[in-house]
Amino acid sequence: MPVFIGVDVGTTGCKVLAIDESGRVLDSVTEEYPLYTPKPGWSEQNPDDWWAASKAAVTKIIKRGKVSSEDIEGIGLTGQMHGLVVIDERAEVIRPAILWNDQRTAEEADFMNKLFGREIIERTGSVVQTGFTAPKILWLRNREKENFQKIRKFMLPKDYVGFKLTGEVKTDVNDASGTSLFDVRKRSWSEEIISELKLELSIFPEVLESPEIRGELDSEVAKELGLKPGIPVVAGAGDQGAAGVGAGATVEGVLSVNVGTSGVVFTSSDAYRFDPLGRLHAFCHAIPSKWHLMGVMLAAGGSLRWFRDALCQPEKVVASMIGDDPYNVMVREAERAPVGSEGLIFLPYLSGERTPHADPYARGVFFGLSLKHGKGHMIRAVLEGVAFGLRNSLELMMELGIKPKEVRILGGGSRSPLWRKIISDVFGLKVYLLEVDEGSSYGAAILASVGAGAYKTVESAVDKIIKTRDPIEPDQDIHRKYLEYYRIYNKLYQDLKDDFKDLAKII
Ligand code: XUL
Repeated sequence: MPVFIGVDVGTTGCKVLAIDESGRVLDSVTEEYPLYTPKPGWSEQNPDDWWAASKAAVTKIIKRGKVSSEDIEGIGLTGQMHGLVVIDERAEVIRPAILWNDQRTAEEADFMNKLFGREIIERTGSVVQTGFTAPKILWLRNREKENFQKIRKFMLPKDYVGFKLTGEVKTDVNDASGTSLFDVRKRSWSEEIISELKLELSIFPEVLESPEIRGELDSEVAKELGLKPGIPVVAGAGDQGAAGVGAGATVEGVLSVNVGTSGVVFTSSDAYRFDPLGRLHAFCHAIPSKWHLMGVMLAAGGSLRWFRDALCQPEKVVASMIGDDPYNVMVREAERAPVGSEGLIFLPYLSGERTPHADPYARGVFFGLSLKHGKGHMIRAVLEGVAFGLRNSLELMMELGIKPKEVRILGGGSRSPLWRKIISDVFGLKVYLLEVDEGSSYGAAILASVGAGAYKTVESAVDKIIKTRDPIEPDQDIHRKYLEYYRIYNKLYQDLKDDFKDLAKII
């Protein structure tokens, strides 16, 4: 029985997952590694920790015996996007990797947005975000000249693991889309941007489509891991691109909504279309000749977790007494509050925001508090505020001509039936759960199955493998009510955006 492996090089750890041809999950192992914050706002990891964790996880899977190493026919890669790994002429890592959530490059991102203006959005599908790769390379040139001089190649995080597995320095069109150096329409590096920034084309990795084979498993590595040599290692995709495959978001208008710490709204697009203001990301899809649109809100599940940790000590005590999860206790309180939380609106900008307002100064707000409001109202307002924030991304997609068909919800937030119902009512769309909710590593394993030849195309694999369950129908009356609240929700940001900046000046 052929087995396909997905390796997800995440921010907290590396998850390795094995599936069979029908998409059944055979086993999965996660190995954690540290994240370093040498200065406030900096975020770094050691690429060799990723490699060590990937090897440890693969070895553990083989040892556990649910998967036989003889059966493994393909490996697919995914991981945190936008990070910068640099290697020198001896193929040694020059400095720790700078990650997607690192804030040190605000000046460089600003410089690029001013230099290129609208052109950067047209070519790369979004404005340059502080966390993206290009400003990190410019930062190295500006602040660590010696390290910059040594660069022979740069890579994205999962591609370092790919390099160790195969000896080849390659990336894929989806992950490359998050660098601000990639011509997303043409699916190749943008020579115009690269030459305007005076960077050497020789430091760029070769780019493949996501299901293409980046190389074969090196024989020494194979021996060390107890695998067959020569197994095809497939290019793979960034974590959101792979999660889109894992949710079956391969058809325009089928939306995947991933409610983790952040909240991601994702859909496939048959043509390259971008938001003229660059608020959405328009990236190459992991499906050759398709693109995808994506909105990212920074604090979705993160807002509820903040509320739990800051204000729900009693709920935690109750939960431990009855052997339940504190979130369940909180959601039961929220269920008692009516739609709209009796006029209480929450703005979920606890960590600033990315979509639709790329605004590091934005902050969280409870608006409309009165004497009648209790904790249940506040919890419900958090769930509703996050749903409104997700709707912002949906509307930007609709402005670009996407006709929404259905939502497939995944991530920790999808476990709450109340939250699913609120999202269904706020979107006015049917919301499904997935039979298998394993996210990015699942998508990477599916890409491996395509690259290894078990399926002809990503779409045919997804048609066969991905199954939805437990649909929730939107209530049209409640939907209309929510749109009234949503109008005020949107206006609040416009009313407050200058105040957020003023506030930042005095703290
Ligand atoms: C995608 C993004 C995150 C990171 C880390 O644009 O910023 O998903 O890839 O998970």
